[in-house]
Amino acid sequence: RRIDWTPMMAEKGGYKHFMHKEIHEQPRAIADTLRGRMLLTEGDVHFETWNLTQEQVQTFTKVTILACGTSWHSGVAGKHMIESLARLPVEVELASEFRYRDPIVEKSHLVIAISQSGETADTLAAFKEAKRLGAHTMAICNVIGSAMTREANLHVLTNAGPEIGVASTKAFTTQLVTLYLLAVKLGRMRGTLSVEGAQEHLTHLTQVPKMIEDVLKCEPQVKRVAREFMNAQDFLFLGRGPMHPVALEGALKLKEISYIHAEGYAGGEMKHGPIALIDEKMPVVVIAPKQPHIAYEKIIGNIEEVRARGGKVIAILDEDDNQADTLADHVIRIPAACALLAPVVATIPLQLLAYHVAEMRGNDVDQPRNLAKSVTVE
Ligand code: G6P
Repeated sequence: RRIDWTPMMAEKGGYKHFMHKEIHEQPRAIADTLRGRMLLTEGDVHFETWNLTQEQVQTFTKVTILACGTSWHSGVAGKHMIESLARLPVEVELASEFRYRDPIVEKSHLVIAISQSGETADTLAAFKEAKRLGAHTMAICNVIGSAMTREANLHVLTNAGPEIGVASTKAFTTQLVTLYLLAVKLGRMRGTLSVEGAQEHLTHLTQVPKMIEDVLKCEPQVKRVAREFMNAQDFLFLGRGPMHPVALEGALKLKEISYIHAEGYAGGEMKHGPIALIDEKMPVVVIAPKQPHIAYEKIIGNIEEVRARGGKVIAILDEDDNQADTLADHVIRIPAACALLAPVVATIPLQLLAYHVAEMRGNDVDQPRNLAKSVTVE
């Protein structure tokens, strides 16, 4: 009997690349992030390591998030979650900028570092500086025992399991889910979220692994889009509200592994620049689930503006959206999630798009040129 599998392929679970395997692992990874943390009856969240008292949490006046790359995008989505559920102002800082600009840090600030590796030099340095200036520090990391988890007053693990592909996928979506849990926890402790309110949010969370399983079924459709646009020179990604960081992340994934120039933009900013780039060669990915926070009507306006200039629209729409589907050249359907969790679901087709474009172009998906998994130099 012939054995076609090499040991390396076995590690990849039959997938050609770790990135592809890790994309498909997300339902399991997210279930692991949630496991044991949702107290549905109490309407509360349990973090094994939690050590903040109600009094401390109530005296926080601001949250500052420090991160780089994909982790910074999850921070931008986390801002929406924490501000909405815990009513605390959140600033999301690029760690590489923070330390060099005389930042305002006070004892009443909660400073959160988000990092898959827990070792990124810029994030670690900024985090240490925030700690030195007296902030309470918390690390959201995927690697137990990493430098950031050791430095922090409190750390929460994302439990995604080892991520090998340089382009981050399951680390990102597990960060989003962890931030959502954190927003519920802070909301309960600050009294901005009732027991019933928290129960509702936690119920939404329980549905996420199944939603990711469902959205992964869009892969054949995404592959068709990838084939059509694999030779494009530029891509534009648009999203509003909590979908803005998804647009940024979609563009970053494509740049990282396909080497196609891509920009992520907030929909409302298109008229201030990127609209000048649109011609019949330009694919524009519009992330438009039907949510109040996302200004659905406005993002449909963006689709019309792209169409009027001959641009090609790839729309990411809710399953039951039959308003925008006639406007787009390609439609990718996602299960309808609540506004704050829609980023988790909407990211999946964009990861698959970047993966398939890169794979079709024959690129080294897991080891893209010039990039490193963990950047330990500043
Ligand atoms: C590198 C990786 C990115 C990652 C970034 C931050 O650039 O290639 O995928 O998002 O570092 O890494 P961290 O481990 O801090 O999340």
